[in-house]
Amino acid sequence: MRRKKILVVFGTRPEALKLAPVIRVLERCKSFMTRTCLTGQHREMVDQVLRLFRLRTDYDLNLMQKDQTLSSLTARLFPKMDEVLQSAKPDLILVQGDTTTSFAVALKAFYSKIPVGHVEAGLRTFDKYQPFPEEINRVLISRLADYHFAPTRKACENLAAEGVPRERIYRTGNTVVDALDMIRPGLARQTLPVLRRIRPGNKVILMTAHRRESFGEPMVRICRAVKEVLARSPGVEVIYPVHLNPNVQAVVRRELGGVERVHLTEPVSYRDILILMERCDFVLTDSGGIQEEAPSFGKPVLVMREVSERNEGVEMGVAKIVGTDRAGIVRESLRLLTDSRAYRRMVGKKNPYGDGKASQRIVAILRKEKFG
Ligand code: UD1
Repeated sequence: MRRKKILVVFGTRPEALKLAPVIRVLERCKSFMTRTCLTGQHREMVDQVLRLFRLRTDYDLNLMQKDQTLSSLTARLFPKMDEVLQSAKPDLILVQGDTTTSFAVALKAFYSKIPVGHVEAGLRTFDKYQPFPEEINRVLISRLADYHFAPTRKACENLAAEGVPRERIYRTGNTVVDALDMIRPGLARQTLPVLRRIRPGNKVILMTAHRRESFGEPMVRICRAVKEVLARSPGVEVIYPVHLNPNVQAVVRRELGGVERVHLTEPVSYRDILILMERCDFVLTDSGGIQEEAPSFGKPVLVMREVSERNEGVEMGVAKIVGTDRAGIVRESLRLLTDSRAYRRMVGKKNPYGDGKASQRIVAILRKEKFG
């Protein structure tokens, strides 16, 4: 029997990271021939992940441009994907998450009548513009996909409520936990130059913020809130790896550059962010992936967003949504820094997003399905 061809396509750092364990399992599976395609929506940030997981890419569309717009990125992707599909002739295309790459590739697959598998399906905030444009990207990917790999029960329910056939929804857990398990061994013994700059005994807040809906005013408020937390807490330092998006860089460097006890760094590798998660006292973030990873380290997460599609952590008590207003961020950060009981209540034991076996489940399901 002919081996089925699976084309795995990704463009940004989180997609590469969350697909890496799936690609590893696929490559070991004799039923499939696996090809990988990097759209290059991101360059430096994704290259780090490729190196870490030793991923080879069969196709690299090299799309990234400085200050790219979502429309130009989408438009440039279509003709290039045409060439890839003609050459690779996949029986199935696998995409992940909710980025512009994932959506545009799923649409392109539909135009070419190629079935689509969607990893991390079913996340919703039910707010069209939050996160922007990811909420609508993922809703549309669910309309286009044929196999829906949902991380949690809630995600399965969201899909079923939108009319996705139950037999095409699979609860697998989130592959981010698989990725984390691959990299984690030995991390606790490692250190980093930025950690050597922390004064012994000081507490550390690990911070990240990069979302489009926070660009402008909310980002300024976030930075000023952090300054206030530090002004009121002498024994506390902040480590903030700043995303390469120029909209993020400009505000953060202006507001927090040179501020005492704030350590701004380049985006760090996946291995290094895990070392920082291991070392920090809590996390202040608007990232989705970090919300999913921090519970594995037992670290509380304050989510600087108005809504989240990852409420499992909030329900378990290990994450709290604090918004992007100064007052909420300051109040909740100070609570974690000064109230040890409140802190202990947010230290979880179990990760609600996965058990490290999601990739194996996904590949086992693909082997059973007769796509193409
Ligand atoms: C994208 C995704 C977002 C995801 C995030 C993870 C969309 C709409 N957004 O947002 O869902 O959470 O990636 O990082 O798909 N840049 C570089 N080098 C890099 C990466 C980015 O210079 O390695 C700069 C470029 O100037 C680029 C800009 O960042 O133009 C914005 O990149 P883009 O992919 O459009 O959006 P992100 O904010 O990264």
